[in-house]
Amino acid sequence: MVRAMRFELTEEQTLVQEMARTFAEREVAPRARALDKEGSWPSDLVAKMGELGLLGVAVPSELGGAGADNVSYALAMEEIARACASTSVIMSVNNSLVCDPLLKYGNDDQKARFLAPLAAGEKLGCFGLTEPASGSDASSMDTVAEEDGDHWVINGSKNWITNGPHADVMIVFAAHDRGAGSKGTTAFLVEKGTPGFNPQPRDHKLGIHAAHSCTVFFEGCRVPKANQLGDKGMGFKIAMSTLDGGRVGIAAQALGIARAALEEAVAYAKERKAFGEPIANKQAIQFMLADMAMELDAARLLTLRAATLKDKGVRHSKESAMAKLMASEVATKVAHKNIQIHGGYGYSTEYDAERHYRDARITEIYEGTSEIQRIVIAANVLKG
Ligand code: CAA
Repeated sequence: MVRAMRFELTEEQTLVQEMARTFAEREVAPRARALDKEGSWPSDLVAKMGELGLLGVAVPSELGGAGADNVSYALAMEEIARACASTSVIMSVNNSLVCDPLLKYGNDDQKARFLAPLAAGEKLGCFGLTEPASGSDASSMDTVAEEDGDHWVINGSKNWITNGPHADVMIVFAAHDRGAGSKGTTAFLVEKGTPGFNPQPRDHKLGIHAAHSCTVFFEGCRVPKANQLGDKGMGFKIAMSTLDGGRVGIAAQALGIARAALEEAVAYAKERKAFGEPIANKQAIQFMLADMAMELDAARLLTLRAATLKDKGVRHSKESAMAKLMASEVATKVAHKNIQIHGGYGYSTEYDAERHYRDARITEIYEGTSEIQRIVIAANVLKG
């Protein structure tokens, strides 16, 4: 059943959206093509996002954040992603995958030591769940944690860690009891510089070139018990509930990529002439634009519904999965059609169309593949 939702944005949500749009158009968009080509980490943009409150949008202001809500966060993510998908996922990981679980599960000491500087942009975070041999089957991990006095000792490896090469803090999930499945997992906060915490050189990927990710090795990494996040054995639930929020962020990222592609398609269709008139006059092009616009709006409504439920504190696993699934598949479709409308120019690296196409693709994979989203949706539908 669809629960009631409002369609008007509040004044605060509009202000956050406009602030993010202004920053994105003035400072992020002009850099996006070069960042992609060079694969360079946008350290100055990350610092500026911190100053603007964009790295802790839904964290209360007394804890270093912007004190806004998750709808505002989704709106801001869409604006940043419309300008540069790489910059937006750096933002998304810090907000959704690091600040959010610290806010929900961190104790006062952890909030003071980790959340406040992360939300203020003084530190950057990353999230370590995926491993070389387990992505979708997240609870079957090989990374282990053993108790040793007032420390935990972590051994293993995590990979595809977005922000990994630059992060100051990583939330790591490790098995303290491998026989206990999802109940044998605990979460830890590991600081950069801890002996045995070894981030590797960055990965080379199809898209989001400026958002660096890497493998991280844990070799006898001693973490104080004060850095255990949540209770022993709660790690898997922390990871899953965190991903419920993260999927709203990735859905919003996909919306931004799709919106950029649609806007470019519209502009090009009005300007490009064929057979004596702009191609925008051709029904073949109009039908493509109609589908692109309709699907983008549908994905946005699902995304804002999931963000609204998160703000209400209601479990939103199904709604987040629907938003992420729909928005990511729409982003890929819209980016594909944008290339088609641009013809040969769409295939050229001199235009942004091919970048959107490459960047959109990852949204169907990270934070749960489309197949995993369908599993989550189906499980909820069958539960009734
Ligand atoms: N919130 C709270 N608890 C949850 C939950 C949620 N959303 N989902 C599951 N749980 C709980 C269940 O209630 C269950 O608890 P009980 O045993 O007490 O009943 C427990 O967790 C185990 O649940 P399941 O049996 O459903 O778990 P599963 O092993 O079958 O896995 C899955 C379910 C949906 C497939 C899950 O493994 C999954 O989401 N996999 C995908 C992982 C993923 O998204 N990885 C992305 C990595 S991060 C990333 O990509 C970052 C980046 O680079 C940007």
